[in-house]
Amino acid sequence: MSDLYERSAAVMPPFALHKMPFGIDHASGSYLYTDDGRKILDFGSGIAVNNLGHNYPTVVKAAHEQLDKMVHCCHNLFHYEKETALAERIVGLMGGGYKVYFSNSGAEAVEGAVKLAKYATERPAIIAFKGSFHGRTMMCTSLTASNSAYRKHYEGLVPSIYFAEYPKLFGTPYKMEDGKCPKQYFTQFDDIFKRLVDPYSVAAILMEPVQGEGGYVVPPREWVQYVREICDKYGIMLIFDEVQTGFGRTGNMFAWQTHGVKPDIMSCAKGIANGLPLSAVVGKAEIMDKWTAGAHGGTFGANPVSCAAALATIDVLEGGAIENGRRMGEYFIGELKKLQAKYPVIGDVRGLGLMIGMEMVYPDGSPNREMTARIVSLALEHDLYLLSCGCDKNVVRFIAPLTVSKEEIDTALSVLGKVFDQIADEA
Ligand SMILES: Cc1ncc(COP(=O)(O)O)c(C=O)c1O
Repeated sequence: MSDLYERSAAVMPPFALHKMPFGIDHASGSYLYTDDGRKILDFGSGIAVNNLGHNYPTVVKAAHEQLDKMVHCCHNLFHYEKETALAERIVGLMGGGYKVYFSNSGAEAVEGAVKLAKYATERPAIIAFKGSFHGRTMMCTSLTASNSAYRKHYEGLVPSIYFAEYPKLFGTPYKMEDGKCPKQYFTQFDDIFKRLVDPYSVAAILMEPVQGEGGYVVPPREWVQYVREICDKYGIMLIFDEVQTGFGRTGNMFAWQTHGVKPDIMSCAKGIANGLPLSAVVGKAEIMDKWTAGAHGGTFGANPVSCAAALATIDVLEGGAIENGRRMGEYFIGELKKLQAKYPVIGDVRGLGLMIGMEMVYPDGSPNREMTARIVSLALEHDLYLLSCGCDKNVVRFIAPLTVSKEEIDTALSVLGKVFDQIADEA
């Protein structure tokens, strides 16, 4: 047992339970270095945060320089270069016509996005999706439907939230004709509007453009486009929660580009500053302009050091990291599909860019949570760090940094090969 593990008694138990029997001493590139001398290939990226790998030199340098200049002055009170420059940069990434409000965490950004939709439309209701994860504040907990553990003892949550089905086509209970998205995922909105909530009472439809915690589920493009049409028809704001998908994770700067559907409002966080805490609500200018003084705010948003790191992060993303992530993602998915052909326990391999999930099933197709946990744990014994996800905890997720090399992916694949051999030997 490492020293840090021994001292973990002072750390809040729910998280310590999931922690490893070692501490992390330092990290660099694609690797974590433990306090007991191990070097671990990190395909968790701090839960999709270190998109450029750990301690990317130009990002660290930009943060250092800003630390010496100014740590905080409060964006509620003053303008300063790094906040303004980053807002301009993000508006540029959106193709113009948007404005940005900066916060600290993903939940804060989702909270802000939903507040904005309610404020701008003066409507009460929100439609979110089963399988979603949007964060831990009371509103975000209310919007989350991937695990009842997140909601337990918090009931009496924010009202007027309705949950629709997210089109997870692998294992869908509905009939798929010619491989197409079943019609129920489209017609459900008519049912919701007829039986539950009038469409003109709905402020926003909130969706993850690729469901993260819910199992790395990529929705069909035509369905995402249909949701956009519904929003346009009834004056509903389309909010994309790009907290996990944003900043290069899915092979484009944002997943909305991959779907060819622009949101009215977007929340982003995680990879935005490659590890420094920062998040943003990005909204169409005419919507953001409805937010008057006092309607939203926060002491710590737009931290100058985080904004400096974010500007440097975007430089690297645009300078080739996204392109590398897209190419490496295609290669990785292709190789995982080869493994799938060999091992029927792998029911599905899916993903966009380097947001990749491998769903584990029993022979009858039911979720194989045990195998997922076994793979994650054996991989770690071979110094490969992986996470799981999915409402049934039966998806192995691969969140390699976008800067990952082919050799590092091959190392991960060779570990997976050993893990599957070991599991076959045990059977
Ligand atoms: C899609 C999505 N939204 C929101 C959040 C919440 O972000 P944070 O943990 O930074 O509050 C997460 C975190 O995993 C997420 O994946």
